[in-house]
Parts: sequence; C-alpha cells; structure tokens
Amino acid sequence: MSIDHDSYIHTDPDDISSNTSGNRPFHEVMAARAARRDVVRGGTVIAAAAFLGLAGAVGTADPATAGGKGGGPGHGPGKPGKPGKKPLIGFTPVAPNSEDKITVPPGYTAQVLIPWGTPLHCRGPAWRRDASNTAAEQAQQVGSHHDGMHFFPLGKGPLGNRRGLLVLNHEYIDRTMHYTDGDAVMTKEKVDKGLAGHGITVIEVEQAGDTWRHVDSKFNRRVTGTTPMAFSGPVSAKHPALKANNPAMGTLNNCSHGFTPWGTYVACEENWNGYFGTEDPAWAPTPEQARYGVNAAGFGYRWHLADPRFDVARNPNELNRFGWLVEIDPMNPKSTPVKRTALGRFKHEGATFWESRGRVVVYSGDDQDGDYLYKFVGDGSWRMHRALGRSPLDHGTLHVARFDDDGRGAWLPLTFGKGPLTRANGWRDQADVLLRTRQAADAVGATPLDRPEWVSVNPKNNDVYLTLTNGAGWPGDVNPRTPNPYGHIVRWRERGGDNTATSFDWDIFMLAGDPAYDPQVQLDETNIFGSPDGIWFDGDGRLWIQTDISNSTQNRPDRGHDNLGNNAMLAADPTTGEIRRFLVGPRGAEITGVITTPDQRTMFINVQHPGESTTFWGAPTPENPRAVSNWPDFDPAGRPRSATVVIRKVDGGVIGS
Ligand code: FEO
Ligand code: CA
Ligand code: CA
Repeated sequence: MSIDHDSYIHTDPDDISSNTSGNRPFHEVMAARAARRDVVRGGTVIAAAAFLGLAGAVGTADPATAGGKGGGPGHGPGKPGKPGKKPLIGFTPVAPNSEDKITVPPGYTAQVLIPWGTPLHCRGPAWRRDASNTAAEQAQQVGSHHDGMHFFPLGKGPLGNRRGLLVLNHEYIDRTMHYTDGDAVMTKEKVDKGLAGHGITVIEVEQAGDTWRHVDSKFNRRVTGTTPMAFSGPVSAKHPALKANNPAMGTLNNCSHGFTPWGTYVACEENWNGYFGTEDPAWAPTPEQARYGVNAAGFGYRWHLADPRFDVARNPNELNRFGWLVEIDPMNPKSTPVKRTALGRFKHEGATFWESRGRVVVYSGDDQDGDYLYKFVGDGSWRMHRALGRSPLDHGTLHVARFDDDGRGAWLPLTFGKGPLTRANGWRDQADVLLRTRQAADAVGATPLDRPEWVSVNPKNNDVYLTLTNGAGWPGDVNPRTPNPYGHIVRWRERGGDNTATSFDWDIFMLAGDPAYDPQVQLDETNIFGSPDGIWFDGDGRLWIQTDISNSTQNRPDRGHDNLGNNAMLAADPTTGEIRRFLVGPRGAEITGVITTPDQRTMFINVQHPGESTTFWGAPTPENPRAVSNWPDFDPAGRPRSATVVIRKVDGGVIGS
C-alpha cells in the first residue's frame, strides 16, 4: 500500500504556501537531525521519555514542578491528580467509522444544539430548510460553520454549570448549501447573506433535565461580516492603511478562538484573504499582499462581482482591516468588537491565553503551510492595565518561534528597531511591522511549520502543545515527515516553566497517522487519527484532540486514509501518552470547538461542514444538497447543517473519566 504523496499536497487553499522567505532553521545540522528523527521514530513513549530527560517530569501530578502560574483551561486549573488514583481516561474507545451520525462511547449521550439557522429569539425568523432565508433573516439566526467556542457561566457556583453563554465562531459558508440556487449567479443579496452567515454567535443556553436548550436572552447576539469594528494598538483606526471606501466593519473566517482572564472572548481571523478578488486585468498583488495569499480569484466566493468592498483593485485597504484578533465582551451586547493589532496580522488560527507572573501570554498559530507560530507577552500585570482603564492586549511584545534541531527554541521579538526590523531595512514603525507581520517574521528567521493550528497549555505543568495539522514537510526536525499527510503534535516547556520566557525546550508529543501506511506511527485501531486541529486541556489535564482531515483526502486508500474513518475526537493522557478515540462525526464534517461546563459534566463540541463536497462521497448540488450527508435533521427535503453537540455521561459523571 502506498500513499499518493504527489497529489496529496496542495489541494486546499491553506495547503498552498505563500512563504517564499527561504527561511531555514539556523542549526540545520544533519547529524543532530538524524538523531532526533530516531527519537521521533520511537513514537510517543520514547519521545516523552526524551522530553523527560530534557526538561524534567512531564505531566506530573504536581503543578509545582514548573514555576509559572497557569491561568486555567477554561475555568482555572483543576485539582492535581494523585499517584495511584484511577486513570485519567476511563471510557471505552469507539471504532473508526464512516457513518452519517455521531458516535460516542457506551454510557454517553450526544444531543444536537443550535444548528445553523436557529433563530436567536423566540419571535425571530424560523429556519427554512430550502435555504431561502434572506440576508436580514440570517443575521438574526445562528451562523454557519461552527468552530471555536467558549462557555461563559451565568451565575456563581453550581448555577454556572447549568446556565451560561455559549460564544462560538462561524468560520465560513458552503456556497452550495447557503443559497437555494447555489452560487452560480452572485448578487449583492447573496454577498450579504454570506456575510451574515459568518462571524460570531452569543447565545444563552441552559440545562433542563438531561438535555440543554437555548433560551431567548438579552445577551443573544450576532457579530457578522458587517458589524461595526474598532481598532486598538499600534495600528489605530486612524492609520492611513485602514482608510478604505467603507466604514470599518465585519470579521471573517473566524476559526478558533480565545478567552481572556478578564472574561472576554477573542475571535480569530484565519483565511480572510479568500474573500477578496478582482476582474481588473491590470491588478497585481504587492509583495505584502502576495505574502498573505491575496490573488485575483480569491477562494472562489466572487463577492467582488457584486460588492466593490471586496474588489482588491478598487478598495485595496479593506484587506488591511483583516487578519487580526477580535475581542468581544459577551456580557455587553451593545459593545463594539475591537481588533487588537498589537498581536499581529496573519491567518490567526486561534488565541490561547495563559498567565505567568501576572502577565498575559497569548499563543497563536498562522495556519498556512510553511507559516509560523507566534506568542504575545504583556509588558506588565494585566490587572494593573485593567485598573488603569487600558487593554492588556495593547501593551506587550509579539514574538515568533524558532525551533532549533537541538531541541531548543527561541521566541524572536517582532519589534521595530530590533534585529533586522530597522528603518534602514525599509521598516517604518511598529504599525508597519504589525501590518506586515509575516514578512517581519520572515526577516527575523522564524521556523516554517506544517500548518500550525490550535495551542493548549497543560494546567498541571504549563507545558504547551501545538497541532501541526499536515503539510509539505518543511525543513527542520519540528516537521519530521516529508511530506506530512497526517500531521503531528509538538510540545515545549518554556524556560523555567515561565510562559513569558524567550526560550524553550521542545519535542514531538505524537505522530498522527495509520501504521498500516507509516510504520513510525505508534497508534492502533483504538486511536489512529489524522490531521489534528483542535486541541484542548480540560481541568483534569486530559488532552482533547479534534481532527480535520481534508475532504479531498478523507476515506481514500490512495492517500492512506481509508482506515481512519470520518473526522473524530480523541482524549490523551499527556503523562503516559495513552490515547483513545472518544467521538466520530458524520460524513463530510470536521470536529472542532470544545469546552465543558466548570464541573466538566457537560461538554460542548462543534460539527462543522457536514455534507461538504468530498472526493470519496461525491458533491452536493442545489438540487441535491444531501448527496454526502443529511446530518443532523435527516429531513428528506432539508440539507445538512453545522451544529453544536452536547455530550453528557448517562451517570452524570465527568466527561472522559
Ligand atoms: Fe480553520 Fe486552520 O482551521
Ligand atoms: Ca481549525
Ligand atoms: Ca483545519
């Protein structure tokens, strides 16, 4: 059996690199590289042992093994486990499958909540199964393509386990599913409905018996591609680069997310470049635009045909308003979202907040093949900034990661005047560095990665885990397979266990894949998986892993993916490397977004793009949108739609235990 590697690469837009910097690891010593590859080949356990030797105990029950104080996965660190206690993972693994349903372990239930089109208010416009809702109606309904998500408890103590605000991103729209007649003809109304399907939903939910429901609430709100936006940080609203032909509005392609220690939500702008295009034959991208993947065709949305806002030749500065992190206060429905420019402009997958020595730390991957991992470190106590009426996200230093082949790494500052980022080299000021973050990172020698996606921090010891979903296989041992069709998980310990540090020790935590095709992979039928994307530590230190195998690859034996089944979610014990498959999703979908209530007895996850066109199952059409999936409604005249899924244990226990 062999994998058709040549045709594997470059099938999705984010698989296509726009990094022409030529950056190579500074320490590309072949001997060292070969030695580390042996470690990688040993798989999880040996890799873990190597990391143990390098940096001390990994995943120990004692959070004091590392110096920093974690901000907590969601709701603060859980209680440390004690030696001899029952195993961290207690469920029976589910087998891979390719059925059009949700599969969870025995003793668990899965309930669909707030699918695309759910009205936010009881008198709001009802979902229309033929996709005939208007743009104005869509703006009053839950958006499409659910992704990153957080649960903000309402009420203290036990009350907060039964009621809260779900805040979730809507990454993109399926152009076949979103309109009754597909998108062969593009109109302004269709652009507007597309914009209304994007963005963020804030919606109150409550437990009623053994199930959850959404409720009409003053907090319920949509943020869309047309919501007014503010800017803060070095690239202020008055910056000339942000002067476009329309007011500053909208956020697009909100993939993963973050939540701050001060109780706000952060939506991340990932593949924003794909919405822009032009018919102007004289237009050519600037080097900066090309580095962000901007081109005349975009990703095929063709919004520029009906809305000049998205025409890169006629309205080029509109581009500069995207690629940022967007802070939203879910508790204040009238608040204006703010784009926090000090954290850089790129294709932000997520924003993982942590706290060390009172300072805020934000990790963010730039998800494109051959792009980088970033870390923002606040320049003082975040509480002090808040007390003075300032945003902690406006005051700090953005860094980019260099992973050296000797297992060490460095955070390189992206600060105007430092290193190569000088006036002599054409950099004007810090705003210029941030507007051109990718090029600044190229200049300082960052390490290209196999598509960096989510980051999560182990609450037990502050170790940081990063999914590299798949890629061409870039130079450097941090990308150990060339090509890398299945992806892997990298982890590191910041120097002294302090997440504000400027250096770290790293190792490979786990190679994803199928040993039937790649003998390096140390997995079996209970846990084989591909393309890790979402990753999240719960309060007990379980590592939840969600997959996003591309629909161009899924189920295909010629790409080594016939044994992996539909996209899935797994749980791992970071100490032992044990991993079990917890959930399998419906056809054509990815699994993304995960959070629990504070008591960990309800878990929310998202099923995104069920029924999307897949090479294996076929392509939906306006006449038959159900060609691949009809989840979750199974309405013979309906269409598949993204939804949140509520997972509970029949005995009411902690999820995953
Ligand atoms: Fe939107 Fe990188 O997944
Ligand atoms: Ca993702
Ligand atoms: Ca992905």
